[in-house]
Amino acid sequence: MAALRTMAAMAAVALVGHVRATERPLPPCLDPFQPFVYSGCFQDTGSPQILPYRSSAPSDTMTVEKCTAECKGNGYRYAGLVYYGVCYCGQTVNGPAVAESECKLPCNGNSTQTCGGDNIFSIWTDPTFEPIEDVTIEDYDPLGCYTDNSSLGRALSYRQDQLDAATLTTEKCLQACRDGGFPFAGTEFGGECYCGTVLANDTVAAPAEECNKPCNGNSAQTCGGSGRLTLYVADELQSLQPCGYEPPVSSSTTLPPSSTTSSTSTSSSLSSTTSSAATSTITSTSTTSISSTTTTSSSACVSTTVVPPQCEYKCGKWCSSPLPDWDDVKTCKSAWSTCALQVASCFKHAGWPDVLDCFDFGEWCADISKYCDSKPWGGCQKSDFWGKKPPKGGPKPSTTLTITTTCAPATTTTKPVTTTKPPVTTTKPPVTTTTKTSSTTKCPIPTPTNICVQPSNPHYGYGPGKPVGGIEMPVVTCNDLADDWPGYPFKQYTDVESRKCRKYQRNQCGSACADACKEQYEDCVDVYAEGCKRKPNRARDNSYFEFASSVEKRTYRWTDSWDSAVYKCKAQYSDCLKVNRGITGAGKCPRFGGW
Ligand SMILES: *[C@@H]1O[C@H](CO)[C@@H](O)[C@H](O)[C@H]1NC(C)=O
Ligand SMILES: *[C@@H]1O[C@H](CO)[C@@H](O)[C@H](O)[C@H]1NC(C)=O
Ligand SMILES: *[C@@H]1O[C@H](CO)[C@@H](O)[C@H](O)[C@H]1NC(C)=O
Repeated sequence: MAALRTMAAMAAVALVGHVRATERPLPPCLDPFQPFVYSGCFQDTGSPQILPYRSSAPSDTMTVEKCTAECKGNGYRYAGLVYYGVCYCGQTVNGPAVAESECKLPCNGNSTQTCGGDNIFSIWTDPTFEPIEDVTIEDYDPLGCYTDNSSLGRALSYRQDQLDAATLTTEKCLQACRDGGFPFAGTEFGGECYCGTVLANDTVAAPAEECNKPCNGNSAQTCGGSGRLTLYVADELQSLQPCGYEPPVSSSTTLPPSSTTSSTSTSSSLSSTTSSAATSTITSTSTTSISSTTTTSSSACVSTTVVPPQCEYKCGKWCSSPLPDWDDVKTCKSAWSTCALQVASCFKHAGWPDVLDCFDFGEWCADISKYCDSKPWGGCQKSDFWGKKPPKGGPKPSTTLTITTTCAPATTTTKPVTTTKPPVTTTKPPVTTTTKTSSTTKCPIPTPTNICVQPSNPHYGYGPGKPVGGIEMPVVTCNDLADDWPGYPFKQYTDVESRKCRKYQRNQCGSACADACKEQYEDCVDVYAEGCKRKPNRARDNSYFEFASSVEKRTYRWTDSWDSAVYKCKAQYSDCLKVNRGITGAGKCPRFGGW
């Protein structure tokens, strides 16, 4: 019921006084996605509108599945059905909950489903979003200068007219977008503020100097330019599994030529096959195996999927994406790379105090590398390493999941599937005559060698290999997604999901490193300075370690006070920006896979 509490809280806040701008709808989500969950019956008071986005999909055939697919495809958290099947979407539900009995109209497209009432909405929630309570404007990361001059409409749909243009600051805009639950925020022409769930697809990065208007309310800040947005994004407000989400697939997975479970939102295609039953099996070994069979009987599709652990090594709120299987030094090194590229995301997302376990995770990754080196003559196996050093905290691998759905012609929407395991990412669409094909784009894995430089300062004692508090910069290196590569050869690895990491053009290496410096600074304050502050002040006799908590053990050698720790973090940050100013990435990542 957390979702309901969230909605109630947000309805009370009701700060979303935006007006609708030209919207450019994206297509409904055609890939399988985790079904929305029913969240109750809500009233539209009209001001503000309960959900701002009205789908153009016809209401005379509307069903819950069709409406949620519309909202999923457009990046919204909530779907609402009203008056026999008019479909709306939104990031917040801006209206009070009312008795269930008020939702009494059947849906035009399926009369066993309920489509609200008159001005009463049946609300469904995408369960793959994180709660917004923890999100602050600090979570918005700058993306730079972007175009907003399309003849098709705005780059971001929701203009925040309630904000006074004469006193607009970056913070005011970010706060308005955050309160509206919007992941994207942008300021323009000194005094305009826009929010959105997605960026309109012909919006492109513009040269930084085109964002040349100071904010009307703070001339030290930049608020876009003429037809230019200073753009920000808070990943925390986006779905963890956006439409086209690709489950992590082992790079050593052998794929039959006919089908794969991976798909991407724009590059996947549907091709018809003539077989009456589509059967596909995807296998690899060890804990990363995914095997899935879909069999068809007269009226139901039953698919049994062995789900790999989506989570392998867990630190607090963070979980690693499973490492690919290995059986020789080369594939072992590849697993090490996959591991090392995830360390920064652990520091970013684990949360205090579990974030301290990320140090162990980093050491565990380094142990994999040592293990690879120790087995040059063979016997190098993931299962062998696992036996010696199992990953910590993750769930048991290989959950079997059986999904039964009605066979649908599989043209537009996916049916909801009832499952007991939350992150369902490998479910096949209930398809009988259609096989989804797309290529696996996630390989090979770049080596975790940072193009950015760790600064040194003998006075404060930091330098390469010994950053403040032992917290390294996130790795900026080659982009590992082929379909992402054109134009964007670099990526900052701050998320376990590569697709959510920020990517950079060749001429943006300087800003990539500046971002990495900032990320390191934030982790330094959140982890090191925080650790220094909370460190228990206990006598350190011999019995200390016997009783010490893991926090105490980890922070044992940290001698700074909060103030001096923050001071060091800041010094390192400013040195970091300096030494990375001239980074060009020249000669690095010359072509996809060529690193
Ligand atoms: C109508 O909706 C019900 C309940 O969600 C579902 O069980 C049924 O399969 C749907 N019927 C059709 C024809 O889609
Ligand atoms: C918008 O600006 C970009 C970059 O300057 C330019 O390439 C594009 O043609 C402009 N679009 C319109 C519709 O003016
Ligand atoms: C942008 O969206 C339009 C309309 O949905 C589509 O026709 C076009 O191909 C898209 N462009 C890109 C670059 O994805």
